[in-house]
Amino acid sequence: MTLIHSTSEFDAWRKNVANQTVAFVPTMGALHRGHHSLIAQAAKECDLVVVSIFVNALQFGDANDYIKYPRDEQSDYQASVSTGANIVFAPQQQDVFPADFDCYLTPSSLANDFEGKHRPGHFAGVVTVVHRLFEIVQPDVAIFGTKDYQQVAVIRDMCGELHPTIRIVSFETVRDSDGLALSSRNARLNTASRLQAQIIPRALQAIANLHAQGQNHSHVLINEALKILGSEPSMHVEYLEIVQKDTLEPVDEARNAVLLFAGVLDGVRLIDNLFLQ
Ligand code: PAF
Repeated sequence: MTLIHSTSEFDAWRKNVANQTVAFVPTMGALHRGHHSLIAQAAKECDLVVVSIFVNALQFGDANDYIKYPRDEQSDYQASVSTGANIVFAPQQQDVFPADFDCYLTPSSLANDFEGKHRPGHFAGVVTVVHRLFEIVQPDVAIFGTKDYQQVAVIRDMCGELHPTIRIVSFETVRDSDGLALSSRNARLNTASRLQAQIIPRALQAIANLHAQGQNHSHVLINEALKILGSEPSMHVEYLEIVQKDTLEPVDEARNAVLLFAGVLDGVRLIDNLFLQ
């Protein structure tokens, strides 16, 4: 049995494999090739791979978004197993957050800006659920995608404090053939907005090229990116900033830095980022 729905069943499985290493890929389902790649990487890290599927109400600002979030457990289960998962853990709401649950976490200050500012309460929900899942799964390694760059940084901080033995590993963003970062939100783009979304990888590629040619001034790189993104009238940029890769503080010199981007296209919020060596 590789699909587990209850914590008691999961606990029993975990006790049985106590002497093996476990890599954990937490997800909210709606798996795409980005997740498949994380699961395949997880299989290289440890003896066993656990994938969780849990749509976490705490991290949604809008109750409607939570209700409308795509759910297809069977197809996520099949995809997880065929890409390397040993266990798919799809717990019930009351198992993760029982009625007496009162351990709501506050994320570190890395959560204050960018996603944290535009989605109040989001990271509190993320660190609370990830902490809870770590308590249940007890992994040796936890795997995340770099597309959610700030999320990984915030989880790393939480983990350093509350789960110092768990190693957080992040893997590169997986992109479609036109460069758009894979995301479950891409499915909400219609044909026209899907084409318009290509402006994001185009802007990031232009910045990568400029940077490779020796341009390190953040304001020049940011202005160029904004100019390219501005050529697509439907694109509403929420933030575009170059930050130091660990502190997420804006920097004037783009070295060891990350460009963080969020924008809304036809009502669909998209994020992406670019590492600048
Ligand atoms: O990145 C996600 O899918 C979610 O934020 C996570 C980490 C599974 C927590 O619900």
